[in-house]
This record gives sequence, structure tokens and C-alpha cells, in this order.
Amino acid sequence: MSEKPTGTYYGDYLELPTLLDSQHPKSKALGNEAHEETLFIIVHQVYELWFKQIIHEFNSVLDIFSTENIPENFIATAVSRMERVIKIQGLLLDQLPVMETMSPMDFLEFRDLLVPASGFQSVQFREIEVRMGLKTNERKSVDRDYFLGRLNKTDKEHILAVEKDDSLIDLLQSWLERMPFTKQADFNFWGEYEGVIEKMISKDEAIMKKNSSSMPQMVREANAANLEATRKTFKSLFDEGLHDQLRKKGKRTLSQRATLNALFILLYRDEPILQLPYRFLTSLMDIDENFTTWRYRHALMAQRMLGTKIGTGGSSGHHYLKMAAENNRVYEDIFNLSTFLIPRTELPKLPKELKRMLSFYFIND
Ligand code: HEM
Repeated sequence: MSEKPTGTYYGDYLELPTLLDSQHPKSKALGNEAHEETLFIIVHQVYELWFKQIIHEFNSVLDIFSTENIPENFIATAVSRMERVIKIQGLLLDQLPVMETMSPMDFLEFRDLLVPASGFQSVQFREIEVRMGLKTNERKSVDRDYFLGRLNKTDKEHILAVEKDDSLIDLLQSWLERMPFTKQADFNFWGEYEGVIEKMISKDEAIMKKNSSSMPQMVREANAANLEATRKTFKSLFDEGLHDQLRKKGKRTLSQRATLNALFILLYRDEPILQLPYRFLTSLMDIDENFTTWRYRHALMAQRMLGTKIGTGGSSGHHYLKMAAENNRVYEDIFNLSTFLIPRTELPKLPKELKRMLSFYFIND
């Protein structure tokens, strides 16, 4: 009998000898092993493997969105891959409590041996951010040179090269801008929608006026200010100049046309053709929300481990991480579209031809 079974061998296929020989605690090398350092290494390695898978999924979605006319079944593939990323993010969150089984004092046994290394230098994490659309020079809580200066030459060059590619937000914008449905010759959808909004605001105004005599002046003033703010917000949606001003101030990311078309998808998500685009937009929000949640949870973990001590990478630690969680959202524009949603019953009725375009067909040829 041969010593080794023939054909593909489990350990060879998965390259387990390499994988399982990749944990080398520094404390052990120095002759005084800190038991928890192995956990620390393995948790980080597992994260990096999942980051690799996320990049793999994102790259395939980016490929799909790089085409001018994306076939419907390709959108279905893109949605299923984004939904996979969302499930993986669930695992990323669930790993934090495993890390937290290490106490702050256990961590102190080997923490100083790590300086100046830090998750700050996770080049795959940075690639995920950049592929999603977070540009290195748009990071609000950290100076770009400091940020890039933490990476070695190869990693820095890699991130700068990734940044030259179109990101998911760039391709999302082009795709939304190409969407044809709101540009029908005989139907001015946005004119109709604006009319509905004006009616809704005027109705609120009338109610406010009717009740104003029974209200304290402070409440009256607050209500009037609120109504004015709502009017202004809606105006910024329809006024391209105003929209562009908000973009310049960093308050909006997508172009006005892309924003309007994304809103159309959300408003008419029940129409067959818009169901997959709706799921795609939803997946972007889920991914943004999950990364933000992870950032907050990771910031809390850092505080639990370090208190107010600085990080091994030299940042202010918990404070820096909290700021990064608050300032590095990528798809906030899509979240904020909820401001412009209206009850289904108030939606402008779509003309027959447009309804037909938004339906599925069974072609029997
Ligand atoms: C004991 C556990 C951990 C502590 C105390 C900790 C602490 C920190 C601190 C203080 C920073 C800020 C940079 C610095 O000054 O070093 C940081 C950044 C980071 N850490 Fe951790 N970390 C821990 C575990 C992890 C794990 C398991 C991961 C998973 C990959 C991770 C990923 C990251 C990433 C990606 C950043 C950069 C975040 C950004 O700049 O937005 N960390 N960490």
C-alpha cells in the first residue's frame, strides 16, 4: 500500500503545511511565550483571509459594472456576490468577541513587541476601502501622507495603483446616470414628483397654520423653521447648481442625475425591472452599515484593551478609531435618499409605456 492516497490530497490542496506554519509568536521567539499571542495572530490572519475573499467578490462586481450595457442576469450575479460580502461581514463582527476573550493584561504581555506594526497597515483593508470608493485624500480623520507613510513601499504603490482604477462608487454613478426610465419624451416624471412634494409640504403648512393659535411661540417658530428646511432640502434635489454646491462641500457624493435615478429605483422598487437594482442599492447600504458597525465595535475593543493609551501604530488609539468610524462612510448618499421618499399611495402614476418597459416578458421563440 502506498504511504499517501493518490489524487488530490486535502492538506496539499489547501496548502496546510504553509498555512499552519505561519503563526510565530514574537514572545515565544524571545523565550517567554505569552499564551494569548497565538490567538491574536490567528484572529488577524482569519480576518485577512476574509478580506481577500471580499476583494475577490468586489473585483468581480467591478468587472460587471465596467460594461456599458449590463445584462440583467449579470446584475443578479453582482447582487448575489454583494450579499455574500454582507454574510462575511457578519463573521467579521462575530470574531471580535473571540479576540475579547484576551484580557487587557494578557495583551500587555506582548503588546510592546508589536510596535510600530498595526492593523492601520492592513493593505487589504485599505484596498477594500479604496475599491468601495473611499479615496485616500478624502479620509477626514487622518492626514493622507501620515496614512500612506505607515505603509511600506510595495503596499503604498499597490494602494496608489488601486486608486487609479474605477471604484464601485464611480461605476455606480455611471450606471445610474445611464438609466433611461426617467427621460421619456412624453412624461416629465420629476415635474410630477415635485408637484406631489409641493402638495405634501403645503398640506403640512396648512395644518400648522390651523393649529398655530394653540401653540407656544417657540414651537410655532421651530415648526416653521422645520418646514423651511424641508423645502430647501427638496429644492437641492431638483436644482443641479445647489446639488453641485453640496457636492463641493462634501455633503453629497453622487451627481444629481445619478441621485435622481437612484431615488426613482427606491420609489418604484416594486416594478419588476427595478427589483434587482433596488437590491443592489440596498446591499451597498448594508455593506456601508456593517463596516461602520465593525469600526465602532473595533474602536470599543481598542478602548477596552488600551483605555486611553496610544495604538501600536502611533495614533491616539480609541479616539482616532471613533473618528474614523464617524467619518469614513462611503454610500451615505443612498441612506439619505430616504429623506425624499413618499407614501406609495402618493406616487405619480407611471404612463402605460413606461410601466411596460419596467415589466418582465416571457419570450417564447
Ligand atoms: C487587541 C486587539 C486590537 C487592538 C487593541 C487594536 C487597536 C487598534 C488601534 C489603536 C488602531 C489605530 C492605529 C494605531 O495607532 O495602531 C487600530 C487600527 C486598525 N485595526 Fe486594530 N486592534 C486590535 C485588533 C484588530 C483586529 C483583530 C483587526 C482585524 C484585522 C484589526 C484591524 C485594524 C484596522 C483595519 C485598523 C485601521 C483602521 C483605520 O485606520 O480606519 N485590529 N487597531
